[in-house]
Amino acid sequence: MAVPQHGIFAFGTSAHSYLELDLLPGADPRAAVLALAEHLLQASTMQAANLVGGVRPELWAQVAPESAPVGATGFTEPVTGADGFTMPATQHDLAVWVSAGARDVVFDGGLELTGALAGHASLVEETFGWSYHRDLDLTGFIDGTENPALAEAPGAVLVPEGEPGAGGSVLLLQKWAHETAVWTALSDAEQEQVIGRTKTDSVELDPRPETAHAARTDQDEFGKILRRNTGYGTVLDHGTMFVGFSARRSTLHDMLRSMAGVDGPRDALTRYTRALTGAYYVVPSVDDLRAITSVEA
Ligand code: HEM
Repeated sequence: MAVPQHGIFAFGTSAHSYLELDLLPGADPRAAVLALAEHLLQASTMQAANLVGGVRPELWAQVAPESAPVGATGFTEPVTGADGFTMPATQHDLAVWVSAGARDVVFDGGLELTGALAGHASLVEETFGWSYHRDLDLTGFIDGTENPALAEAPGAVLVPEGEPGAGGSVLLLQKWAHETAVWTALSDAEQEQVIGRTKTDSVELDPRPETAHAARTDQDEFGKILRRNTGYGTVLDHGTMFVGFSARRSTLHDMLRSMAGVDGPRDALTRYTRALTGAYYVVPSVDDLRAITSVEA
C-alpha cells in the first residue's frame, strides 16, 4: 500500500505556515519538483515539524504522468455565483504546509524549504496559521466536527489503490478573510443559522436552513474531505486558512460552486467571509515522490 505524506494526518500542532512558490523564469520544471521531493523525503523525526508538499496538478502530470490523479487540475478560473459573488483563482506551482508545536520551528522549516528550492522557485505567498482555542475557527464555532475519524480519514481522502497517484491526495488551499465586526454584531442564534450547527457544542440544527454553510457543503451529497483549517492573522486582518484534502478535486470544487451559489442558494457564511486566494495541489504519496527521485533525467 502506498505511503501518504504523514503530515496530512498529524494533528495536535499549534503553529503552521503555508508557503506557495512559483518556478523561476527559465527554471527546469522537473528539477524544481525533484528538489521539493528530495526536501520532503529527507525530513527527519528530530526536526519536530511536519511537512506536506504539493505540486500544481498540471506540473505534477508533466513530471510524473503515470502518477497524476484522475481529474486533478489547477484552480485556473474564478468560481462565480449567480449573484456575482466570486472566489478568485490564484494558482501557484508548489505549496508546502509546515506544522509544529512552536512558531520558531515553523519559521525555520520555511527558511529550510526556501533554501532547498533556491534557484528553482521563489516564495510568493506566506501565511502563518495558529490554532484558536484548540478547535475553534475565528467565527468562534467548532471547526472539524464532521471530519472523518482518524482511522477512517486515509481511506476517505487518499487516492485509492489501483488508481494513478494512489496514496496521494488533492489539496485545496484557500485563504478567507473574516468580516469580524459584522459577524460579531449577529446574535449567537443568528450565527447558528449561518453555520447550521449550534455554537457551543456543534450540534446540527434541525431544521437546517438550506443557505447554512454545513448544508451547502454537506458531505452526504458531495463526498468526504478532511479539513485541517487554522486561523491566521492579527486583530486588524484575520481569517481562516482553509486546508482541505480529498481523493478527488471535483469533491472540493463542487463544494465551492455550491458555496458560491452557482446553481443554488449562496452559502450564508460567504456574507461574512471572502476568499482571497484559491489553489489546488497534488500531494503525492511518499512512494511517488521517491519514484521521481530515482529516475534519471
Ligand atoms: C471561512 C471559511 C470557512 C469557515 C470559517 C468554515 C467553518 C466551518 C464550520 C464551523 C463547520 C461546522 C462544523 C464542522 O463540521 O466542521 C464547517 C463545516 C464544513 N465545512 Fe467549512 N468553513 C469554511 C470554508 C469551507 C470551504 C471553502 C469548504 C469546502 C471547500 C468547507 C467545507 C466544509 C465541510 C465539508 C463541512 C462539513 C459539512 C457536513 O458534512 O456537515 N468549508 N465549516
